[in-house]
Amino acid sequence: MRVSMAKEHVHSVVKIHLQSWAPYEISVKLGRQYLEAFYNNIVNDSNSFGYVFVHDNDIIAYAVGFNNYLAFGQNFQKQHLFSLIYYCLVSFLKMKLNIFDMLNIIADNQKLILLEHPEYHLGALALHKKYMRTVIGRRAVLESISAVIDHLRHAGYPSCWGCCDERNIPMQKILVNRFGFNNKGTHRQKGRNTVMFEKYFTTVDV
Ligand SMILES: CC(C)(COP(=O)(O)OP(=O)(O)OC[C@H]1O[C@@H](n2cnc3c(N)ncnc32)[C@H](O)[C@@H]1OP(=O)(O)O)[C@@H](O)C(=O)NCCC(=O)NCCS
Repeated sequence: MRVSMAKEHVHSVVKIHLQSWAPYEISVKLGRQYLEAFYNNIVNDSNSFGYVFVHDNDIIAYAVGFNNYLAFGQNFQKQHLFSLIYYCLVSFLKMKLNIFDMLNIIADNQKLILLEHPEYHLGALALHKKYMRTVIGRRAVLESISAVIDHLRHAGYPSCWGCCDERNIPMQKILVNRFGFNNKGTHRQKGRNTVMFEKYFTTVDV
């Protein structure tokens, strides 16, 4: 069953994020406290929203979306500036984040130049590790993604974008093969590359 993401879901969502996302992802390196702050803002800020998929009383997948990605980012930085600097420094001192990661964080928004509409975004999503490559897992994650895309489409926006590390083949296949996103190019960063995708809503999609 799919439901809107709420504050009481954040703990489970963070747990899935930490277990399922690749260890090279900056969000994983920044750690639990950073993720708690991020997903709490997702459910509290009117520029963002999310859906979770519940199976046997457990959250097994989720996906989040943004009505205005840039406004969300500004609010998040304003509200958590000192904590964000602290999480970066702690992760750096623990040698989880390296200097390349730090530079990539600072320049992150440069990737948006490849997009036509950077506001409307299919953002973070994941499937619980235990359910990967299972029928119910595939249904859970695809329904969560569909819910975000439908939410943005029904809001009347012209498109939505997604992105992932170029090593993340399953995510690229899902965006292109399952949901018809267009590859908008690769944003080259220090020590990693991010592939950018955008899907345009047409009357055929409605
Ligand atoms: C992305 C994610 C939701 C995909 O779920 P999954 O159950 O692993 O996905 P699937 O096994 O259905 O794989 C999706 C597709 O990629 C293919 N695939 C998987 N691993 C692959 C690999 N190493 N090489 C090539 N293809 C691969 C699958 O065969 C499938 O293709 P198909 O649709 O043609 O059958 C899941 O891996 C996840 O939660 N990852 C961590 C979070 C994450 O990376 N989020 C995105 C960050 S932007």
